[in-house]
Amino acid sequence: MSEKIETISTSEIMALEDRFDSGLYAKRPLTLIRGRGARLWDADGREYIDCVSAQGVANVGHANPVVVQAIAEQAGRLAVCPGGFYNDQRALLLAELMRVVPPGLERAFLCNSGTEAVEAALKFARLSTGRTKLIAAMRGFHGRTFGALSATWRKEYRQPFEPLVPGFEFVPYNRLARVEQAVDDETAAVILEVVQGEGGVIPGDGQYLRDVAALCRQRGALLIVDEVQTGFGRTGRMFACQHHDLAPDLLCLAKGMAGGLPMGAVLIGARAGKLPSKAHGSTLGGNPLACAAARATLRFTEEERLPERAGERGAQLLAGLKAIDSPLVREVRGLGLMVGMEMKENASPYLAALAERGVLALSAGATVMRFLPPLVISAEEVDSVLAQVAAVLEA
Ligand SMILES: Cc1ncc(COP(=O)(O)O)c(C=O)c1O
Repeated sequence: MSEKIETISTSEIMALEDRFDSGLYAKRPLTLIRGRGARLWDADGREYIDCVSAQGVANVGHANPVVVQAIAEQAGRLAVCPGGFYNDQRALLLAELMRVVPPGLERAFLCNSGTEAVEAALKFARLSTGRTKLIAAMRGFHGRTFGALSATWRKEYRQPFEPLVPGFEFVPYNRLARVEQAVDDETAAVILEVVQGEGGVIPGDGQYLRDVAALCRQRGALLIVDEVQTGFGRTGRMFACQHHDLAPDLLCLAKGMAGGLPMGAVLIGARAGKLPSKAHGSTLGGNPLACAAARATLRFTEEERLPERAGERGAQLLAGLKAIDSPLVREVRGLGLMVGMEMKENASPYLAALAERGVLALSAGATVMRFLPPLVISAEEVDSVLAQVAAVLEA
């Protein structure tokens, strides 16, 4: 089905963005102007199955009616209320969030994006331990602001902005011995993803993650888990930590948290202590509009069993991709609806060919095709995605 709606034309949209946007993004030649569930439409009315979810944001689906209604109601009531005042939506969100987070997390700092959540967690770790060293993983991605960038592995992202924040050391992911060597009595925290997303969709080993947590406890360092991409059902559990009984001291969240509105959070455990007043803050963090959207998103996620559905659809997608017998494919891996197909060559031409066939997916590094559909994607839609991937690889 295709539907045309009134807007400026495709060429006008592209011309304006090409002329006035920062130029920081390598654009794909697509103008997305409308979405519903796991479907997107471009300005010419062409329909796509979305396996991008705006880089893993649209967990509850595009234009989710429950979230739309909550945003509309709150926008007409009170959109902004700084942290120095109390607010009903913020209070309720905090209480509702605490009900579903991994054990041991007691408080939350609310912000507006993933990089802000990581930035705050790194500051909190230094503040509460009085130590400065920070350990991050090779291939990890944590954001683009100076602190988060200092924890991010890829040289292309880091090098133009050096010198970065001092005190960071990188260790290979999934290798305990190297973390054991790195963590000492100067270490404030180790920061890790449960599944490395941007780094190529690399699931963390459960024993490794638990051993790192134990090591941090022994040596007086904190464990920061970055679930900006894996949080809110994406991997088949509400939080990916829960696959491995992992209890982080600081948990970073963002992306899917508020159904598409900008929002992030750091959840703070007992070992991170109580933070001193005025040590950190954000004008828009925890604004009632985002809080109302996050409450509706969380409610929908629980009522519609999205984590469970992500587990089921993810298993279908993973098995289906693995069953495609192509000499072009090196490996298929993932957890829940976070799935990567590593090619033996650059993935971009395959992503372009998939888009031609009405399926949008994204890359993770040069060679990995990454599939992050909304968690509401149907079994039939997953079958269509699989058929198109098979057709592209055959062609
Ligand atoms: C694991 C992880 N951490 C942090 C970030 C940064 O989030 P944001 O783009 O919202 O700043 C991302 C973004 O992709 C991410 O995947």
